Amino acid sequence: MIDLDRYPREIALRSGVMLVFRPMTRDDVDRLWIFFQQVPPEDKMFFRQDVSRREVVQHWADTLDYGLVLPILALDGVRVVGDATLHRQRTGWKQRVGVVRVQIAPDFRHLGLGTAMVRELRHLGEKSALHHLMAEVIEEQSAAVRAFEKMGFVRAATYRNFVNDQKGGLHNLVVLLYRMSTASDDLHY
Ligand SMILES: CC(C)(COP(=O)(O)OP(=O)(O)OC[C@H]1O[C@@H](n2cnc3c(N)ncnc32)[C@H](O)[C@@H]1OP(=O)(O)O)[C@@H](O)C(=O)NCCC(=O)NCCS
Repeated sequence: MIDLDRYPREIALRSGVMLVFRPMTRDDVDRLWIFFQQVPPEDKMFFRQDVSRREVVQHWADTLDYGLVLPILALDGVRVVGDATLHRQRTGWKQRVGVVRVQIAPDFRHLGLGTAMVRELRHLGEKSALHHLMAEVIEEQSAAVRAFEKMGFVRAATYRNFVNDQKGGLHNLVVLLYRMSTASDDLHY
């Protein structure tokens, strides 16, 4: 069980701007949907779901389960400017692996927010005894690959022509891993 008492949490960007981090709630549908409408088409192309449809965001809100998907929002006042999610499995062979996804509003990029949000997910991962965090990024999204590498993630694999965009074009998928300090070298079979 992740301890969410630390929220809402105020953070300062390099520029001095203050933002608030907190988990998404059912009341956030419209502000999150507005946030996704600002995502540039080149980023939207690689989304798993069509986030320009309000009902997609509504469905997330209706089925919120922080134990499986924990969405952390970055808010500038009432505006969502960043969304970072930690995806987990409660049982089975991947229960020690968390998958992270991050999306920052175009006008809030290069300010250290992506780094701060991944750091937040790293903290949550440690608190929930995860051993590894995994990020999957399209190779062309070089800013994302660089951002994760700067935060200690290591390129673990590149799958060639592995995923398709919404127009059917194929792209290389880069898998990056971050090994938590809680990960033990002792293997238990
Ligand atoms: C990738 C992303 C999350 C980075 O967020 P950000 O807030 O701009 O990142 P930061 O400001 O913390 O920058 C972190 C590092 O990434 C690198 N970086 C960021 N933008 C970059 C760019 N356009 N080109 C190259 N490197 C870049 C830099 O090394 C930077 O460190 P520095 O500022 O100390 O030089 C953001 O660009 C984004 O939302 N992209 C679209 C979605 C996406 O690709 N998500 C990742 C897949 S889950």
